[in-house]
Formats: sequence, structure tokens, C-alpha cells
Amino acid sequence: MTYGTAASGRSDGRFDGRSEGRFDGRVALVTGAGSGIGAACAARLAAEGACVGVLDLRAASARATAAAVRAHGGTAMALTCDVSDEKQVEESVAELVASFGRVDVLHSNAACLDRDVYGRDRDLAAMDAAVWDRTMEVNLRGAMLLVKHVIPVMPDGGAIVLTSSVSGLTGDVDHAAYGTSKAALIGFTRYVATMYGARGIRCNAVAPALVMTAAAERALGPRQLADKAAERLLPWPCVPGDVADLVAFLASSESRCITGQTVALDSGTLTHRPEHAIHRSRP
Ligand SMILES: NC(=O)c1ccc[n+]([C@@H]2O[C@H](COP(=O)([O-])OP(=O)(O)OC[C@H]3O[C@@H](n4cnc5c(N)ncnc54)[C@H](O)[C@@H]3O)[C@@H](O)[C@H]2O)c1
Repeated sequence: MTYGTAASGRSDGRFDGRSEGRFDGRVALVTGAGSGIGAACAARLAAEGACVGVLDLRAASARATAAAVRAHGGTAMALTCDVSDEKQVEESVAELVASFGRVDVLHSNAACLDRDVYGRDRDLAAMDAAVWDRTMEVNLRGAMLLVKHVIPVMPDGGAIVLTSSVSGLTGDVDHAAYGTSKAALIGFTRYVATMYGARGIRCNAVAPALVMTAAAERALGPRQLADKAAERLLPWPCVPGDVADLVAFLASSESRCITGQTVALDSGTLTHRPEHAIHRSRP
């Protein structure tokens, strides 16, 4: 059996130093690609040769990312879609396949970070069930719908990357709906990897801590940003390009033996006991 690996790169595990071409001739679909992490990942996959479906709920944002990719010489198609709506997902995948023939790489990255959903995901005793439901619909059901409709058009050897979060690996005093949806994605990663491993399809998750996007800065505010800085071992937070590096690696044949894994991208946030941060912050 020969596998059309997600990337056209080497299979011997060595990187030949080329920063372009790992996705030459490949087709990628990135959700939540209108801004932040998704936009950076779409741009990276396109810069390395992929034809990219730039999917977002917000049409103008999807168009802007696609235009930026094209301005840098890449190939991109904007797709407007609510990932929680099965008909829209089915139509978006069909639209991409009608133009490019298949989907080699899926990066399911969209999440509901709206003020009226994520911003109200606080004390469970006062939880509006609609906040819980919308969070699960977008973050978890959305990923399932993407996988459901992409798998039939994904060649053997394709790669799926899901965006989870360190919030899915830990507990917290708020954002239980968000964190639970991200924890469920880690389980879902293992199921997808197990179900389609025989076809050479790999599925992995990235679990970032704070990534400096406009959405994160809006959602957190200065005090929480300072707290997160104290939790990190490294002096720097992640930026969207760091996530793009990891997603491109997990989508490429350089990671051909890695599947079912969740990789934390957290500048050392989860590596240590909480006392470390407390001691460090004392004068
Ligand atoms: N930024 C961080 O600190 C951080 C940390 C850990 C995990 N994450 C995860 O990374 C991903 C991207 O986050 P970001 O910081 O880039 O945020 P962002 O708000 O910039 O990006 C999210 C994108 O998803 C889109 N979206 C929202 N609902 C959608 C829907 N129903 N259908 C289609 N698209 C929809 C939004 O329009 C937006 O463009 C999310 O899954 C988030 O949970 C972010």
C-alpha cells in the first residue's frame, strides 16, 4: 500500500532544511482561519505549498485571510461556514473539493470565544445552559462534523490536527464549558487516530497555553495576562506563528509516526508545580 502522505517531504525523519514545499500539491482546510491562530496556520500551510480552504463564520475575515495568502503568492479559497451546522460544513467541504479535488490536511481550529458565550462561561451554579450548549456545538460538534465530512475525501496518509488547549488538560475556577470541550477534543483525537490509523490517516491535537492573539487579549485582560506570565517557565508567551510551526509539523510527513497525541505548546506552563510560580513572584 502506498500512502499519499500529507506532505511531500522526506520519510526518513531528516529535514532537508527547505522551509517551503512540505505541502506542495496538497490541499488543506483550516477552520477558524479568519483570525489569530487559524489565520497564521492557513498562511503557513499555503506558504509551504498547500492550496488552502480558509473557513470561518465571519465571511469578511475568511476573505481577508484568503486575500493575504494570495498576496504572498499562495492559493486560497475563502469559505463562510458555521462549523456547528452540518449542512454548511458539508457544503463547504464539497466546495473545496470541487475546486481542488480532495482534502489532505484538516486543521479543525474554530472555537466560540464570543463575549456572550466564553465571557459568560463562569460559575457553574449560575451557568446558562445555552452557554454550555453553544460552546459544545462549536468547539466539539464542529470538529466532529469536519472530520465526518472530510474523511471520505481524504486520501490515505492524510493528517488531521485539532486545536485543543491547556484548559483541556487542567481544571480552573471558570470556563468549565470551554475546558471540558477542549478535554473532549483530546479524547476525540485518540478515537479518530484509532479509527483511521489503518488508512495511514493520523490525528493529533495541539494544546496551547496563552497565545498572543487579539481574541486572547480581549478575553483575558491585563491582570490575567500577568498571572499567565508568572505561570510560564520561559520568559516569552506563544505567538500564532509558534502554533503554525507545530501544526505544520504534525500535518507533515516529518511526524509520520506520531498519532493520537496531544502536544502542549505552553512555554513550560504545565511542567512544574504551582509553588514554582508562587515562589518566583515573592520578593
Ligand atoms: N489564543 C489563545 O491563547 C489560545 C490558547 C489555547 C487554545 N486556543 C484555541 O485556538 C483556537 C483559535 O483561537 P484564537 O485565539 O486564534 O481566536 P480567534 O477568535 O482569533 O479565532 C477563532 C476563529 O474562529 C471563528 N469561529 C468562531 N465560531 C465559529 C463557528 N461557529 N464556525 C466557524 N468559525 C468560527 C472566529 O470567527 C475566529 O475567526 C481556538 O480553538 C482556541 O480555543 C487559543
